[in-house]
Amino acid sequence: MLDAAADPTDPAIEAVLVEAAQVARERAHAPFSRFKVGAALETAAGDIITGCNVENATYGLTMCAERVAIFKAISEGHRAFTRVVVVADTESPTPPCGACRQLLWEFCGDVDVVLANLDGVTGRCRLAALLPLPFDARLLE
Ligand code: THU
Repeated sequence: MLDAAADPTDPAIEAVLVEAAQVARERAHAPFSRFKVGAALETAAGDIITGCNVENATYGLTMCAERVAIFKAISEGHRAFTRVVVVADTESPTPPCGACRQLLWEFCGDVDVVLANLDGVTGRCRLAALLPLPFDARLLE
């Protein structure tokens, strides 16, 4: 558990999140693409919820690491999030796919997005930069 009062930009906390996503990535089930991804969601309370991509023989039912983390977090009762880390073994940053951007937006809002590889951070941005004109529940009111 992280200190909820801690500076969200604290590099030590970011490093803990990156490592959690790296460890989660090792658990990826990616026999078809061999592209392993790990994700770590930081909750407002300072908890870390991880996810990895889970593939299957239909290909199409594959679930990305980010959405696994979101669904785990929601199902465990977490509702407020501050940051997401995505880790892949790529030199340049691997950003969340479009489906994951949508669900990150709906469940996490405009969180900090940290992209990393096995060596460390490769990029940082806000989710709004990745999804500039989002469709969300506000449009359904
Ligand atoms: N993948 C993720 O886990 N997250 C993303 O945002 C992009 C793609 C996974 C899905 C699939 O198992 C593999 O990466 C190749 O697309």
